[in-house]
Amino acid sequence: MRDYHIAVIPGDGIGQEVTPEGVRVLDAVGELTSAYKMRYEYFPWGCEYYLKTGRMMAEDGLKILRDFDAIYFGAVGFPSVPDHISLRGLRLPICQGFEQYVCQRPSFLLPGIKSPLADKKPGDIDFVVIRENTEGEYAGAGGRAHRGLPIEVAVETSVFTRVGVERVIRYAYQLARTRRKKLVNATKSNAQQHSLTFWDEIFVEVGKEFPDVQTERVLIDALAARFVLRPESLDVVVASNLFGDILTDLGGAICGSLGVAASGNINPEREYPSMFEPVHGSAPDIFGKGIANPIAMIWCGAMMLEWLGEKPAADLILRAIQAVTAEGKALTPDLGGTAKTRDVTDAIIAQARRIAARV
Ligand code: IPM
Ligand code: MG
Repeated sequence: MRDYHIAVIPGDGIGQEVTPEGVRVLDAVGELTSAYKMRYEYFPWGCEYYLKTGRMMAEDGLKILRDFDAIYFGAVGFPSVPDHISLRGLRLPICQGFEQYVCQRPSFLLPGIKSPLADKKPGDIDFVVIRENTEGEYAGAGGRAHRGLPIEVAVETSVFTRVGVERVIRYAYQLARTRRKKLVNATKSNAQQHSLTFWDEIFVEVGKEFPDVQTERVLIDALAARFVLRPESLDVVVASNLFGDILTDLGGAICGSLGVAASGNINPEREYPSMFEPVHGSAPDIFGKGIANPIAMIWCGAMMLEWLGEKPAADLILRAIQAVTAEGKALTPDLGGTAKTRDVTDAIIAQARRIAARV
């Protein structure tokens, strides 16, 4: 029985509602498989913490998190705190400080879930977006001057480094190699003549190491259209930080709901802990109602297990999620159902038990 030390940061809004559900599934599957036991440590960081302390996380937060095996993260952001403060005070320092330069976001149409795209069946949508996660448009370089004057100016400069671009693109090629061997480079080098031509050149350079991977260079606007018109043509997509951000909301939406979109902020070298968090964010509009969809958070748990080397346990969770959506009884309102957050988790755990008993 392996033992993992997990830092849990429920964060804000529905992060607080879905995180305990994910933990319940991790524990249940640990017992069912007798493969691992989780030791959790909880951190109350987020907007409420900020209103009390003036900080989004403890001052030595990164030092505290450094030695955990992984971080299980709910969501950050609430109307009580400006978004740029909450993001730059918690999630970004962790992603950037821990070199989690890969943000891996699967889009997979679950059985029983209706895509807003006509006539899509499970299996028609099955791709992964690899989003650069430490620099690019989120680098934070820039400033504002002459505030309030007619000559007021704001500058936000994207930062692309050779190391930063190369490493995320290499990861995407490696991932494509384990899948259907097709990689799309999301770019806009026609307009971004310095940064993204650089990005494109590196895409071609790194590609020489992967002659078996079929590549395409697609402009981001055309790619957005293709997500809607021909998602079945996609396998792995590599994108800059902001492009990847936008594409993955779209990826979640075409799979029926952002409530099923999982994400991993990964440090591939394993020098630092990686962090698993759903794409959906804190959803203040439905917070407190008990109707948040826990599937994305539970799926993040599966991604975390896979990252920790617990593939059979991760597969069990994914199969249980699929059994529940295929059955279509325990679905939250975002998926057209009437179930509560807890009902969905209960159903997933029951299915995991059933599947585990069969093998
Ligand atoms: C995401 C989110 C964040 C981002 C927000 C909360 C700042 O949209 O994880 O996709 O833009 O990275
Ligand atoms: Mg986003």
